[in-house]
Amino acid sequence: MEAILAENLTKTFNPRGNKPVCAVRGVNLIVRRGEIFGFLGPNGAGKTTCQRMLTTLLPIDGGRAEIAGFDVTKRADEVRRHIGYVGQLGGADLTAIGRENLTLAPQRATGVYRKAAA
Ligand SMILES: Nc1ncnc2c1ncn2[C@@H]1O[C@H](COP(=O)(O)OP(=O)(O)OP(=O)(O)O)[C@@H](O)[C@H]1O
Ligand SMILES: [Mg+2]
Repeated sequence: MEAILAENLTKTFNPRGNKPVCAVRGVNLIVRRGEIFGFLGPNGAGKTTCQRMLTTLLPIDGGRAEIAGFDVTKRADEVRRHIGYVGQLGGADLTAIGRENLTLAPQRATGVYRKAAA
């Protein structure tokens, strides 16, 4: 089982009044457990869009993805239980190190962090 698996991942945005934007076109990706993977590309390449699909925040248009063996579309609940995601903007706790942020992120999403801090 792979930590992250994406097959032919695709996303097109249809902004009102503007031409459709193909943000992600057929991305194939395998990240194994314990691997540190740098997802690099020019501005607008579709990195954030890919990550939003892989973290269940955005519906997948085409292809498929699994996180920890769980299908992102069919088992979003399990996917969310298995990941930490620190978003590009405003997602990080600046007083925490990277690993702590990944641990805190799902707790923030479920409200545990807020309760523990109160
Ligand atoms: N909600 C949206 N509606 C319409 N177009 C969008 C939307 N989100 C992203 N896009 C477009 O999709 C493409 C990919 O954007 P995305 O933000 O995924 O790129 P990125 O690789 O994360 O860029 P950056 O390095 O600037 O963070 C861009 O052309 C962007 O303008
Ligand atoms: Mg981005």
